[in-house]
Amino acid sequence: MAELRLEHIYKTYKGGVEAVKDLNLTVRDGEFLALLGPSGCGKTSTLRMIVGLEEITRGEMYIGNRLVNKLEPNQRNVALAFETYALYPPLSVFDNIAFCLRARSVPKPEISQRVKQVADMLDITDILDRKPAELGGGQKQRISLARALVRDPDVFLMDEPLSHLDAAQRSHMRVELKRLHAQTGRTTILVTHDQLEAVAMAQRIAVMNFGVLQQVGTFDEIYNRPVNEFVAGFIGEPPMNFLPATPVREDGTFLLVAADNSFRIRVPESLHERLERSGAKKVDVGIRPIHLEVVDQPADALEEIDATVATFESLGEEGQLAAVVGTQTVLAVTSPLLRLDRSDAVKLRLRPDRIHLFDAATQAAI
Ligand SMILES: Nc1ncnc2c1ncn2[C@@H]1O[C@H](COP(=O)(O)OP(=O)(O)O)[C@@H](O)[C@H]1O
Ligand SMILES: [Mg+2]
Repeated sequence: MAELRLEHIYKTYKGGVEAVKDLNLTVRDGEFLALLGPSGCGKTSTLRMIVGLEEITRGEMYIGNRLVNKLEPNQRNVALAFETYALYPPLSVFDNIAFCLRARSVPKPEISQRVKQVADMLDITDILDRKPAELGGGQKQRISLARALVRDPDVFLMDEPLSHLDAAQRSHMRVELKRLHAQTGRTTILVTHDQLEAVAMAQRIAVMNFGVLQQVGTFDEIYNRPVNEFVAGFIGEPPMNFLPATPVREDGTFLLVAADNSFRIRVPESLHERLERSGAKKVDVGIRPIHLEVVDQPADALEEIDATVATFESLGEEGQLAAVVGTQTVLAVTSPLLRLDRSDAVKLRLRPDRIHLFDAATQAAI
């Protein structure tokens, strides 16, 4: 087992696409980290460089204390489970799993023992004699994972491993993969574009966008202290609302006045100092849909904004409101019991302790 360390890693493809830019990331020994980001942000490129299938354009990569840049894939002891399972159809499940051990001339009794052990762990012992064509997606996925794990890798990589499974299988495999990690204690990176997967399985999440690492942390850190608008909008469902505003001092009160004049709210005390220090002339006020409340009784005008209902849907456990504030539409998660119709006037309270501020010029968190 080993720590994986990426130092100033770049990947530039022939033709000039910069898929990964100055990536610095340490995955601790035994850690389960999720690499999360939208399609095309450089996740697969990163994994392929780690496993050795893609050359590193610049930077240094260490597994344990070994510099691995120039090592062949089979010298790195990294295993990658693909999003497509790539099983060999003519071979039985057992032979598919045993394949790489045979290629490395591992003695027969040891092969048998190691295949049985991972098969047991992944609950596929009873299908070892079958052929891939006879199996369902969930089973093929397990075989693909077994084939990677049987090599006893120092670092275990999974690229969108659940993307071909249906919803029920996915939620089942999420639990399984987490258990598997707990059992093997292997340094693991899961690549996904699905925040739910990242949150459900990983100990820390690394968020990427356009080839650049944005933030690394636990879900709580990333959710509560996003470093910029991209991360703030990417983590959390429905996504955070952003409302452009200008900070102004008026009669000793520190206010945020909407760019379109549609609201005036008080800057929460906890943000005074940071906002002043930032020197931001214009900000985006970030508020998550679950932190916007529909209030019947106005209480504090400087915590509330006036809005007009665009749509309201009752979705069983919660209500989802889209409301127009000036020139913007905001989303709010409400009680499902509200009765709201299109064009109704509503007051929305922004929970002051839940407001995020971003510098509109840089989109960085204040
Ligand atoms: N072999 C390649 N040659 C040229 N460009 C590539 C190659 N592989 C990926 N890319 C480009 O690199 C960027 C990152 O791709 P990728 O790492 O596959 O992202 P992700 O896995 O996050 O969807 C994309 O713009 C993609 O088109
Ligand atoms: Mg990919």
